[in-house]
Amino acid sequence: MARFEWKEDLATGNELVDGQHKQLLEFANRFFEASHHAKGKLALKRSFELLEQHTQVHFHDEEQLYCQIGSRRLDDQRIEHGRMRSELKAIRSLWVSNFGFVKEVDRALTTWMETRLLPHIFEHDRQAFADRREPPD
Ligand SMILES: [Fe+2]
Ligand SMILES: [Fe+2]
Repeated sequence: MARFEWKEDLATGNELVDGQHKQLLEFANRFFEASHHAKGKLALKRSFELLEQHTQVHFHDEEQLYCQIGSRRLDDQRIEHGRMRSELKAIRSLWVSNFGFVKEVDRALTTWMETRLLPHIFEHDRQAFADRREPPD
């Protein structure tokens, strides 16, 4: 069974963003699958890179969208996205330098998903759509 399931309460109501969030969960699950089945170094590396690349694309697309709709949360989102990019990079360097300890990376990524990405989607992304600037008179 997949470790992270997308649930309706994560929905922002925006098709592009919801689709990308589902994809991020899917890519994270692929990494956990590869880790669980003790796949080779290359498979693990690829699945982690895929998650990281799609996270970058997603954050970029989201920021553009919040800019277009005039969300008051754009600046907060940029800051949080920047922090999360750095955290993911730190997890990558953990496994690049410590490949023998895949389980540590697995744990670090699980914690990141549970305490950073999913709460960000649930609290901040959903709010960013709700919290728009008043249109000018
Ligand atoms: Fe998001
Ligand atoms: Fe976001």
